[in-house]
Amino acid sequence: MVKVVKVYEFGGPEKLQFEDVELGKPGPKQARVKHAAVGLNMIDTYFRRGQYKADLPFVPGMEGAGTVEEVGSEVTDVGVGDRVCYAGVMGSYVEEKLIDAEKLVKIPDGIEFTVAAALILKGMTTQVLLRKVFKVESGHTIVVHAAAGGVGSLMVQWASSIGATVIACVSNEEKGKQATADGAQHVIVYSDNNLVERVKEITKGVGVPVVYDSVGKDTFQASLECLAYRGMLVLYGQASGPPEPIPVTAIASKSLFISRPSLMHYIMTRKELEEIAGDLFANVANGVLKVRVHAIYPLSQAAKAHEDLEGRKTTGSTVFVPDSV
Ligand SMILES: NC(=O)c1ccc[n+]([C@@H]2O[C@H](COP(=O)([O-])OP(=O)(O)OC[C@H]3O[C@@H](n4cnc5c(N)ncnc54)[C@H](OP(=O)(O)O)[C@@H]3O)[C@@H](O)[C@H]2O)c1
Repeated sequence: MVKVVKVYEFGGPEKLQFEDVELGKPGPKQARVKHAAVGLNMIDTYFRRGQYKADLPFVPGMEGAGTVEEVGSEVTDVGVGDRVCYAGVMGSYVEEKLIDAEKLVKIPDGIEFTVAAALILKGMTTQVLLRKVFKVESGHTIVVHAAAGGVGSLMVQWASSIGATVIACVSNEEKGKQATADGAQHVIVYSDNNLVERVKEITKGVGVPVVYDSVGKDTFQASLECLAYRGMLVLYGQASGPPEPIPVTAIASKSLFISRPSLMHYIMTRKELEEIAGDLFANVANGVLKVRVHAIYPLSQAAKAHEDLEGRKTTGSTVFVPDSV
């Protein structure tokens, strides 16, 4: 038996139930991974609420790291004892997991399990956003929303290292200080209600070539207004809810682009997964990315961790460890 967090009906954090399940044996292409750490992501709350669809009951969680304990007969890429991590595979809120071995990435030496679990989903998302969806270059000025969060903190660090000027948007001064420490040159606090004006002032009226918006409903319109001609709004999350629909003609006045990317669509093949994870780990090894693991909870306290994330109380990443650790 292994401990697991399960959702039987959609709703608030109290719907996360901690219980025992039977795990079974890995199939021919599967591995059994004993988790050392599991990453918390905003998307876990969307699934728990029913905002993103999953069949009930389900085990939430998309990110984990641990050791391979057993492999199926056809698995050759990983072996027993390997340190591995993965992203985008549902059901990580569990002590041990059966998973298709082709989804696993080996953790380089020197990277701890908690860091890998905090990093693999959020960091590959960051790579995709900055290198593939819109290629940020030195000299660009960019807007990053929720800049002190798990993904946001990595976005600020990586974009700054490329030579971009980062305008970090956050909900309070403390989060602003973290964004500044991560390399942001400008901080905008939402409650000042001057986001568009400040971006226009900073860019001398031109606007920015890209806005990375993970907040959605509350920021979408302002994000569009911050863009320069031919700019791109990269809407990659909806922490405040989905934005109101707009007519396609609304983006004609500045020939704008809108992208709504999902990490999963950029790691669909083994080659893509290895390339993106490789670039991510290289940027940890060379010191560009410092992973901020700001909270560690036992898996049994998943509800408390969800409350804190949804209450905008967290900065950086939150990680779960199995209660038995
Ligand atoms: N498209 C993809 O493939 C992909 C992959 C990974 C993550 N994401 C998205 O990236 C975003 C960041 O994910 P994360 O796990 O790293 O979370 P996070 O940024 O650590 O936490 C979410 C942050 O969103 C901000 N926020 C604004 N309005 C909010 C509201 N009404 N309720 C809660 N938070 C609000 C808060 O920052 P402030 O207090 O500073 O406003 C909060 O700290 C999420 O939107 C997530 O869905 C997308």
